[in-house]
Amino acid sequence: MDKKVTVVGAGNVGATAAQRLAEKELCDVVLIDIIEGVPQGKALDLAEAAPIEKHDARLTGANDYDASEGSDIVIITAGIPRKPGMSRDDLLKTNAGIMKDVTQKIAKLSPEAVLIIVSNPLDAMCHVAYDASGFPKNRVIGMAGVLDSARFRAFISMELNVSIENTHAFVLGGHGDTMVPLPRYSTVAGIPITELMPKERIDALVQRTANGGAEIVGLLKTGSAYYAPASAAVEMAESILKDKKKILPCAAYLEGEYGFNDLFIGVPVKLGTNGVEEIIEITLTDEEQTALAKSADAVRELVEVLKKL
Ligand code: NAI
Ligand code: 2OP
Repeated sequence: MDKKVTVVGAGNVGATAAQRLAEKELCDVVLIDIIEGVPQGKALDLAEAAPIEKHDARLTGANDYDASEGSDIVIITAGIPRKPGMSRDDLLKTNAGIMKDVTQKIAKLSPEAVLIIVSNPLDAMCHVAYDASGFPKNRVIGMAGVLDSARFRAFISMELNVSIENTHAFVLGGHGDTMVPLPRYSTVAGIPITELMPKERIDALVQRTANGGAEIVGLLKTGSAYYAPASAAVEMAESILKDKKKILPCAAYLEGEYGFNDLFIGVPVKLGTNGVEEIIEITLTDEEQTALAKSADAVRELVEVLKKL
């Protein structure tokens, strides 16, 4: 393949993302983890599936970063996942240390890469990666809104018994309990869901979306979601690798947009070869803007904690 994507963290999200990248034949994939044998074993296992899945993506597993050199995109999933009873914010300290170390190593060998951050707490980890990499803001992007919107879409499709392909949804804000699903901008075949469902059902779906990560943790008990998170990260990577210029909700560094400064938070962005090529500013009602401001406050609180570490 003429493109290379490194996935750091060969756990549930990382390995599933590697599988999807390879099976979609988007790029060669380098899988990196600190556990000896795990990235090598998973890369080999995936390579041995290639004859059946019919792709020519080359897969490499490693514990050091040499093989990642010159990557077009680096997806960072390294860290510890959220366990039952643990908030995303509990993860802050441990994952900040991991994110800083990983990003510094990546930035040396792939100075032109676009970073897609996945590790939690997501928006705060974007700040760590941005500072540690020294990359321009357009090349540090957080994955959360694509996942949260996909969950909202899945719930809309289940509720109305319509094709998932007809659904579109937007979830803005931080990746946490204060995320802001936007029913007015969520549609089925172009029809806003506010025309298709009573308010109490929309409120229920909004609530389920905001609780989407915790719902899966509650069921799995030993870890958090990974199929949908991997799909979401790969949708972002695909838009960048193919310069598709998809508009997707992603955590981006804001400098005045939506009234926020010096903050990563989920907003609609255009993703192409250069990463975030545009931040789309949509009109929000007072209520939506207030909810977004509350979400921004929650992210800012974590960023303040990070500054004291
Ligand atoms: P996992 O535990 O299955 O995988 C994490 C991997 O990171 C492990 O294999 C671990 O050995 C590795 N790792 C730890 N420190 C490392 C280091 N310094 N260098 C390289 N690798 C290292 O966890 P999972 O389920 O894959 O989740 C990964 C992260 O993604 C978690 O922080 C989780 O909370 C987050 N997440 C974020 C989502 C989002 O929407 N942004 C959605 C799902 C997960
Ligand atoms: C999720 O939303 C754990 O953040 C992760 O599934």
